[in-house]
Order: sequence, then structure tokens, then C-alpha cells
Amino acid sequence: MVDFVRHLPPEPKRRVRAALKDAGKLRGESDAVRGGHSGFWVDGRGGLGIVDGMREELQAVVEELKAMRDAGVSHVYLADGTLGNLRAAVSAAGSATTKPAVAAPAPARGGPAPARRKTASDSGGVREMVLPMGEGGARESRKAAPKPAKPGPSVPIPPPPVVELPDGDATEQLAWLRKRVLQCPVCNARVKPGKKVVFGVGGTQADIFFCGEAPGAEEEVEGEPFVGPAGQLLTKIIGAMGLSRGDVYIGNIMNWRPEMPTSVGNRPPTAEEMAFCLPYLRAQVEVVAPKVIVALGKTAVDGLLGPDPRRKMGQVRGKWHEFLGIPLLPTFHPSYLLRNDTLRTKRMVWEDMMQVMERVGMPVNERQRRYFLPR
Ligand code: URA
Repeated sequence: MVDFVRHLPPEPKRRVRAALKDAGKLRGESDAVRGGHSGFWVDGRGGLGIVDGMREELQAVVEELKAMRDAGVSHVYLADGTLGNLRAAVSAAGSATTKPAVAAPAPARGGPAPARRKTASDSGGVREMVLPMGEGGARESRKAAPKPAKPGPSVPIPPPPVVELPDGDATEQLAWLRKRVLQCPVCNARVKPGKKVVFGVGGTQADIFFCGEAPGAEEEVEGEPFVGPAGQLLTKIIGAMGLSRGDVYIGNIMNWRPEMPTSVGNRPPTAEEMAFCLPYLRAQVEVVAPKVIVALGKTAVDGLLGPDPRRKMGQVRGKWHEFLGIPLLPTFHPSYLLRNDTLRTKRMVWEDMMQVMERVGMPVNERQRRYFLPR
């Protein structure tokens, strides 16, 4: 078993290791903090805060864990030293008084907690812990986090809306639906001031319907799905298929960016949030009536097919399913590709896209067939 931090790509690994080393020094060494030790600061009121650099490093941990979870990883292994340092870092973040602490526990939906401790003898002298990353581990994990970021919506989500499409052609129906979603009081109550509810975009006659998870920071500003870094990659993938964004339809399970206590990072939507938004997505699928739906990442798969704690993205991707009688293909989320920028992962997604092209009757040329093959 490999310690989680050792699994990280080189640059996040360097930053996370540096951060964890600093955090480790904090335990019982407050002088280092008072002396302005790198990564932490003491605010004017004597509280221990967390500087932006440190927040970024913890965010790197959060993002990497999220990407691994999206890829179907349910547990990561943490050496005792790493875990202790991570706890110290989260603890320091939790005691910040003037700057909001990063939602460090988010990857495990609550924070690091041992689900099962191995002894030195069963791991060759290195004691390791299993850090649960799935729904099941979340509650346990939250208990261990000193001051967990509030993970869910602050106001209860009402039951899902009933959406009855009016008569009309696809353009009229989609315009009606768009207006209804953009005016939805529940959705609007969940976006921060100045931010937007996000509805799907694309062609009403599109053969391919890409479904993502939820708007992120860029999307809630623009009011358009997939316009941030992951969206730009999705646009490139669509381009590699010989299409443009207007030729396909792009939507999300969620119409709003799940609330976070901090301005950085994203969290997966809760089951209630997804259930509330699903009728809006279903109506978009009904209007567009695509030949194929591509579910981008685990949240989209869970939202469309229903949650299954045993489902692993690595196992379901590239295999056909159905939503409302329409063939659905799960593939990795573009943000996973951004964090796992290897020929292998790109090829996996590309093979999925070639399946999609074939399924909708698009030709795949020889050049396209060779994309992302090892030379
Ligand atoms: N990720 C998603 O799942 N959807 C977006 O719109 C942007 C990023």
C-alpha cells in the first residue's frame, strides 16, 4: 500500500509535503508559529490563522482526494506521520479566527479519520490508516475533524419540483424550462449574491448530451456550464470529435454551485440537492431527446442512474447504461483528466468518445483513432 501523499503528482506532492512538514512542526512548537513559520501566521488577536499558501496546499489535498474519489477510489492509505501532520494542519485551519479555514475535510466529506488501523506487523513496519472517502465514511470522518466546514445547504431542500413541459417545439419548451429554472426560488436562494443559477446550453436537436456535476466558481459567474478549466478541456474534447459546443448539449445535475463556507473549492452535491434538480435535468433530456448521454464523473452517474455505494468509476466508465431509455455512457470527468494528465487516462476518455461517435453514426477517421496512443 502506498501512502496517499506519495501517490500525488510531483508538484502537489512537493507542496503538500512542505505543508504537512510545517503542520507537523506546529504540534507543541508554537514558537515556530509565533516566529512566523512559513505556512502559518498569528493574527492580531493572537489566533492561529492560515495563510493563503497553506490554504492552497490543503486545497491540493482536497482536490486530489476528490479526483481519486471521482475515479472510483474509495479509500486512501495514510502513514501515521502523514495523518498526524494532516490533523495538525486541519486543526490549525480550524482555529483560524480572521480568515476562513479551508474545507480540508471535504475530500472524505468530513475529514480524516481512521476506519481501520493496521498494526506495524501487517504493513511491513509502516503503520497505515485507511481514510474512507465514500458516503459511508463521511460521518465517521466528520467526528474526527476539529472544526469541520459545514458541508451541506444551510436551509433544508424542499421536495423535488414537478415539471410539466408546455406544448410547443423543442426551442419553445427549452426556453420555457430555462426561464423556470432561472427563476426557481429554491435554486436562487442557494446562489451567493452576484452569482448565477446555471442552466444547460447547446443545440435543441443535439445527438449528444454531456451531463456534468454542478457549476463551479467560473460557471456561477458566467451563468453557463463548463466554462472554467474543466469546461475548456471538455470543449477541446468536443472539438477533437469534430464538433463544437453548439452541436452538442451540455448540462449539469445541479443548477447551482453547492454552497461552501469558503470561497475556494467545490463540494459534491448532497443527495437532496441532486434529487431537487433532477426533474429539471430530466426535462432537458426529454426536450433535446439526444441519441446518447455522456455522464461526466461519478456524481453525474449517481445522479442519473441512482446512487450505488459500490459503484466505481473505473468499472462503469466505457460501459453502456440507460437513462429514460436513452443510451448513457459514463466517462471520467474532465477535472479528473486535468489532475491525471496522462496518456492513459486521456486515451480512456478518448476511447469512450469514439464509442459515442460510433453510436450516433459519426465517422471516426484514422487520425482520430490514433489520438493518445503511445508512440
Ligand atoms: N464541472 C461540472 O461538473 N460542471 C460544470 O459546469 C463545471 C465543472
